Amino acid sequence: MITSILSTKGGAGKSMLSLNLAVAAAESGAKVLLIDSDPQGSIANAFASRPATANSLKLYDVDFKHITDDTIFDALAHSLADYDEVYIDTVGFDCAFIWRIAAESQLVVVPVAAGMADVNVTAEVATKLMYLQSNGCNLQARCIRTNYQARTRMAATIAANLAFFSDSLPELKCVVSNRTVYADAFSYGAGVLEYDPKSAAAKEMKELYSELLTDFSF
Ligand SMILES: Nc1ncnc2c1ncn2[C@@H]1O[C@H](COP(=O)(O)OP(=O)(O)OP(=O)(O)O)[C@@H](O)[C@H]1O
Ligand SMILES: [Mg+2]
Repeated sequence: MITSILSTKGGAGKSMLSLNLAVAAAESGAKVLLIDSDPQGSIANAFASRPATANSLKLYDVDFKHITDDTIFDALAHSLADYDEVYIDTVGFDCAFIWRIAAESQLVVVPVAAGMADVNVTAEVATKLMYLQSNGCNLQARCIRTNYQARTRMAATIAANLAFFSDSLPELKCVVSNRTVYADAFSYGAGVLEYDPKSAAAKEMKELYSELLTDFSF
């Protein structure tokens, strides 16, 4: 399955989620390719740390490519012959490149961080994804709350707003909580399942991957 992680809002948690989903898939035994399509290369930089990190942590096999031009579409066209799961991290602004990547994906996951700007952007993303769907793209789309803090007023506001477009962009049951371990693990080029497999964050990622597996087996 090809999954892209997409939001036109910068800092929504796309790179974090992409890396962690790839690691969660690898941990469960899938053959995984992770592609960073952002010229800023957050994951590419993080991945440069993995060889050193492998000396102290158990890392799972995740193949990685940093492709920021149209050659990504050739890579995607052949990817499912070699991989069970392909995850693509995308740039955090509105451009044709991200929608073309979405069009090649079976699943688009849209992280929504805790702020009203994130909700407004998500409404636009939902509309564009619906446009792709109504123009023959066989993709499913889900949003997921990131940097989530339960029992805050903002969490309640966001829940109410996301409910408005739950038909076009339903929310996944799982959330990605705000936890420093996500940032710590990322700085070592590791997913939380590698950095601290017993952490609440690791449990969260296992549950999220399992929700995706249950709902979307292509
Ligand atoms: N669940 C989380 N808990 C705590 N910190 C987080 C979480 N998710 C992301 N962060 C932090 O938030 C910042 C933005 O995350 P990330 O780089 O993944 O966002 P992005 O959507 O890829 O941004 P960009 O649009 O710039 O590519 C990073 O500093 C990251 O460490
Ligand atoms: Mg990023």
